[in-house]
Parts: sequence; structure tokens; C-alpha cells
Amino acid sequence: MTTTQTAPPAAVDTKADTEADTNVTTAPDADGARIEAFAGRVLDVISDGATALTVSIGHRTGLFDTMEELPPSTSAEIARAGGLQERYVREWLAAMLVGGIVDHDPAEGTWHLPAEHAAVLTRRAGKDNLAKLAQLIGLLAGAERDVAACFRDGGGVPYSAYTEFHALMAEDSKDMAEGILIDEVLPLVDGLTERLERGISVADVGCGSGHHLTVLAAAFPRSRFVGYDFSEEAIAAARAGATAKGLPNVRFELRDVADLTGTGPFDFVTAFDAIHDQAHPAAVLDGVARALAPDGVFLMVDLRASSNPHENVGVPAAAFLYGVSLLHCMTVSLAQGGTGLGAAWGEQTAIRMLHAAGFGSVDVRAVDGDFVNSYYLGRI
Ligand SMILES: C[S@@+](CC[C@H](N)C(=O)[O-])C[C@H]1O[C@@H](n2cnc3c(N)ncnc32)[C@H](O)[C@@H]1O
Repeated sequence: MTTTQTAPPAAVDTKADTEADTNVTTAPDADGARIEAFAGRVLDVISDGATALTVSIGHRTGLFDTMEELPPSTSAEIARAGGLQERYVREWLAAMLVGGIVDHDPAEGTWHLPAEHAAVLTRRAGKDNLAKLAQLIGLLAGAERDVAACFRDGGGVPYSAYTEFHALMAEDSKDMAEGILIDEVLPLVDGLTERLERGISVADVGCGSGHHLTVLAAAFPRSRFVGYDFSEEAIAAARAGATAKGLPNVRFELRDVADLTGTGPFDFVTAFDAIHDQAHPAAVLDGVARALAPDGVFLMVDLRASSNPHENVGVPAAAFLYGVSLLHCMTVSLAQGGTGLGAAWGEQTAIRMLHAAGFGSVDVRAVDGDFVNSYYLGRI
């Protein structure tokens, strides 16, 4: 787009612009101040959406990691340290400045990533690295047109449309599995760690790229682990991960988990973020219940939400949750002729469905290191 501007404005007065625009177009009884405030809110939404993409680029390019190591530096120094093109880095730094991510000293011409910001933006932050989540915004944006078409035409957008999905999931799951699985998650079930040490049979449904199971298999060599997923890409990555770690006690099987006939009995079954986007979640839960040994435990880790939208208002990242649901989780289920539960199916629905599948006892727990998920423990 080409624009001609003879003189730059001293400052852009969005308030005045908004007032002028809204005076023309609004109903006579509308409250001007509320319109103005709401227009500001919408502009923030759009601006923050752009910041999400530029934060994602900071992660992909390693710029946050580079800046964490540097004192206040010029764009040329930062570009050189990262092996990147200075012009792109300079534009990105400006975006990071106005987005509240980096500090800038205009007199010195330097830019700096404060340590408190690096704590949640760099690879060194591990599971606390929020920048990697920003990549999901770009992934979802790629499906926007197709999902909008589904509003008219029905159906859904298939997994195959999300080319980077498994890689991004794997990046997140690896950090979570390595960060909290052994020390924070397993102790939710009394005696589970000891049973794993002695040797039990474990299955993970919707295992994706397999990081949860490889972490467990490495920690508990006497136990046997199997991961099921219907994605060839995910299973190939999981097998490669197990081979690279030299783990003889874990295997990964290409399987639609809507039918678990012939599997089990398992002492422990897990599902990490893998029930809400199923085409047939009730069938999966039924199958898990049947595949469990009589004293077995099902750990279902799924996104924390209420089933009632009004109870999610004001909850941190709730808009992200519904966005991920609409633009991925719900639509991939509907694309298979499924029920389209959605990522915000919520605690009430989850508990009801677990009971309906035959879990007589369902405990819902939280884990300090994971503000996103609820931990459901189901026993027959
Ligand atoms: C959100 S991902 C979670 C993956 C993994 N548990 C993790 O935490 O990284 C959901 C996974 O469920 C798998 N999946 C969905 N429907 C499935 C089905 N019917 N049978 C097997 N796997 C399925 C997907 O391929 C995907 O790997």
C-alpha cells in the first residue's frame, strides 16, 4: 500500500478521531464516553494481536535469547549477535518497544530486554516461556478464512490444514513434561511413583510427539509404556525421540483411540490435552475405562475452564482459550463429523462425561507449575 504524507503528525490523537467517527455513525441515545472507551479497547485488541505475532518472531528468530545475553545494545549489535538482518531487527525492536516488551534509550540508541521480561520469554525459561505460545496465534490465523467459511457451510477444518501443529505442540509438551511431570504431577496420585518404580503398565492416549511418555519411560525403566495417536507425523516423531534416548520400555502405535478394543489392562492411563479435541470423546473415555485395571487410575489433563462462558469472564487467557478452541480444537473435531466439544468444554462437562464413562470417583486437582490445566483423576 502506498500513502503520501507531506508532514508527519506531531502525535496521533486516536481519542479525537474516535469521537469524530462515532459522532457521525452512532444512535442518538448511545453513550459517547462508553463508545470512546470501547473503541480504545478494540484498538488495543488489534494492536495486541500484532504484538503476539511480533513476539512469536522474537521466539522463532532467537532474538529474546540473544538479547537476554546482551547489555543495552544497538540494533546493529543485536543483529550481529543473532546473525540476523539489521533492518528487520530494528523494525522488530520498535514493535517490541511500543508493545511494552523491551526498553529503549533514544539518546544512546540502545535496546534492552529487562531480566524480568526475559524470565517469561526465553528458551532458558523452559515451561515458563510464554513467547513460544505466541506462535499459536500465527498457526490459528492461517485457518481463519476456512473457519469463517464453516460458519456458513458447516463442517470443519481438518488437522492437515495446520501444518505446524504437531511441532508446536511438541515444543510446549517437552518443556511441561521435563518441568513438572515427575515432581508435581505424579504425586497427585498416592503411591503412583512407587508403583512406577516397581513396574506397571501405562498408556497415553493422543500422545502426540510422545514427550510425556519418554520422560516417564526414562525415569521408570521397570514400567512399560505405550502411546497411541492417529497422526503419522506425531507417531514418527515420538518413535524417533524414544530411539534417540535409547528407551526399550516405550512404544508408539498409530491408532484411533475412539476404539481401544484389545488394549490393556493398564494400571495407569494418561491423556494430556487430548480429550477435548476428539471427534468422539465419549467413546474414548468409555474405552479408557474398559482398558483400566480394576485398581487403575486415569489422569486426564485438560484445559481449565468452566463449562459456563460467563464464569470464564476475566479469567487469565480465557480469550486465548476460546480462540484456540474455535480456530482449532472444535473445528478439527467437527471436520471428522465429531461432536466439537471445544477446548472450553469445562470442568462441569468433563466430570459429567467421566462419570458417564464409568468412573465412579473423579477428583479435580491443580498443579502449581501449570496455570492452564485441570488435572482429573478418574477411578472405576
Ligand atoms: C492437543 S494434541 C496433544 C498431544 C500430546 N498429548 C501433547 O500433550 O503434546 C491432541 C492429540 O490428539 C491426537 N488425536 C486426536 N484425535 C485422535 C484420535 N481419534 N485418535 C488418536 N489420536 C487422536 C492428535 O493427533 C494430537 O496429537
